[in-house]
Amino acid sequence: MDTSTDFSLFPITTTINSKGHLSIAGHDLADLAATYGTPLYIYDGATIRAQLDRLKTLFKHYYSGEAMVAYASKAYFSRSFAARLAALGTGSDVVGLGEIHVAQSAGFPASVIHLHGNNKTGAELQAALDWNIQAIVVDSLDEMAYLETLAARRMQVARIWLRITPDLNVNTHPHIETSHSDSKFGLHIQNGEAAEAIQRALASPWLNLTGLHTHLGSQIFEAEPYRQAIEMLFEVAAANHYTPQEISPGGGWGVRYTDADPIDDAEPWVKTVAETVQESCARYGWQIPRLVLEPGRWLAARAGVALYSVGTQKTTPAGTHIVAIDGGLADNPRVALYQAHYTARVVQRAAAPPTEKMRLVGKFCESGDVLIPEIVLPPVERGDLLATPAAGAYQLSMASNYNLAARPAALWLEDSEVEVMQCCEQPDQPGWWVYSGQKP
Ligand SMILES: Cc1ncc(COP(=O)(O)O)c(C=O)c1O
Repeated sequence: MDTSTDFSLFPITTTINSKGHLSIAGHDLADLAATYGTPLYIYDGATIRAQLDRLKTLFKHYYSGEAMVAYASKAYFSRSFAARLAALGTGSDVVGLGEIHVAQSAGFPASVIHLHGNNKTGAELQAALDWNIQAIVVDSLDEMAYLETLAARRMQVARIWLRITPDLNVNTHPHIETSHSDSKFGLHIQNGEAAEAIQRALASPWLNLTGLHTHLGSQIFEAEPYRQAIEMLFEVAAANHYTPQEISPGGGWGVRYTDADPIDDAEPWVKTVAETVQESCARYGWQIPRLVLEPGRWLAARAGVALYSVGTQKTTPAGTHIVAIDGGLADNPRVALYQAHYTARVVQRAAAPPTEKMRLVGKFCESGDVLIPEIVLPPVERGDLLATPAAGAYQLSMASNYNLAARPAALWLEDSEVEVMQCCEQPDQPGWWVYSGQKP
C-alpha cells in the first residue's frame, strides 16, 4: 500500500506540493524552516477549527442541555493561540498565575474560566476571586478551608466546583492517570472526603457549590470509565442531597501519535458522557446540568507539527544507525517522561520510499533523549528536514531550557497568513540565563 499520501496523523491541510515537499495550509515547510529556523513548531488553524466543530456537532447530536468546551491550557497556550481560541468561543481551564494571566489578556470572559490545581497558592486563589471566574475547582478539604477564609476576608462568595476522584483505574500510562485511589488529585470518594466536601460547601456562607468535576487521566480511548465516573458523581451528589448545575467529566480523550494508535474520533466519548449525564438526571429527577468538557490534547495535538533539521549521523558497534536532530528532550520531554511514540516524514522528499532503518535522537546531554527509537525513512543527509506530526499539545508547553537551549518559535498558519505566536528565544534577550556578573 502507498502510505506516502496518508496524512491522517498530520493537520488536515497537509499535502505534497509540486516540489515534492510537505506543505501545510499552502505553505512549503522547507520555506518556513528557512525563514524561521529549526526546531520550529507550526499550528494549522483549519485543523483546530475542525476539531472544535466536531465536538460542537457531537454536543448538538447527543446532548439536550447546554454544553461547552473549555480548552485545557496546560496543552499548548500562548497569548496569540489563546486569543484565537477565545475568538472561537471556547472556555478555558487554567492552572497557575501564568495561565490565568494569558487567558485574561487573550480576551476570555471570566464566565468561561475555571481554575484547577492540587496546591493553589494564595495568590492564585486571590487572582481567581479578583477576576470572578466561573469556578475555582476545589481539590481538597484543606484547600476548601483556606479558600473559605480568603473569601470571608474579602466578603465575597466564591463559586466552586469540587474535583471528585472516583478511585477508578483507567488504561493509560501511569504518569497520566489521575483517578485511582492513590492519586494526589481531588477529593476521593472511597475515604468519604467527597461526601464531606459537598456537605461542608453546602453549609458555608462563603462558598457557592455550582458543580462537580472529575478528570480520569489523559490519552484514554475507552468511554466506559467516563460512564462509571459520572454515575459515581451523581451517586455521591444524591446521597448528600445536592443537585449540580454544572458537570465536568474533564478531558483526556486520546489522539493518534502513530499509525499504531486507535481511531481517535471523539464520538464514543461525547456520546457516552452525554447519555450518562442525561440518564442519571432522569433517574434522580434532576434538570440537565451544563456540561463542560476540557479537551487539551484532542483540540491541539493534530494541528501541530514539529520541524527539525538533520545533523550528525553515526553507526554504533551494535549496528544502530543514529541520526541526530537539532531538537529533542528540551522541546519535547514526552518520550523521556512517558515513553511516548512518534513518527516522522522527510519534508523535502515526502513521497520517497522508506528504505533505511534508523534511530532519531536529540542533541541534548541525556541518553534518554531519543525522539524515535526505530523508524524506517528514506535516506537522509545533513540539512534535511524532518516533520513530526501530532506535536501540538504537550510538547512546547512542557519544553525546557535544558543545556540552555532556546525554546523554539511557534507559528499559526492560515492559507494567506503566517503569524508568529511565539518567537524563538534568543540568548541575548532579557531574562535569558546569561550570568552578566553585574549586580541587579
Ligand atoms: C483537570 C484536567 N482537565 C483536562 C486535562 C486535559 O487532558 P487532555 O489534554 O488529555 O485532554 C488535564 C490534563 O492533565 C487535566 O488535568
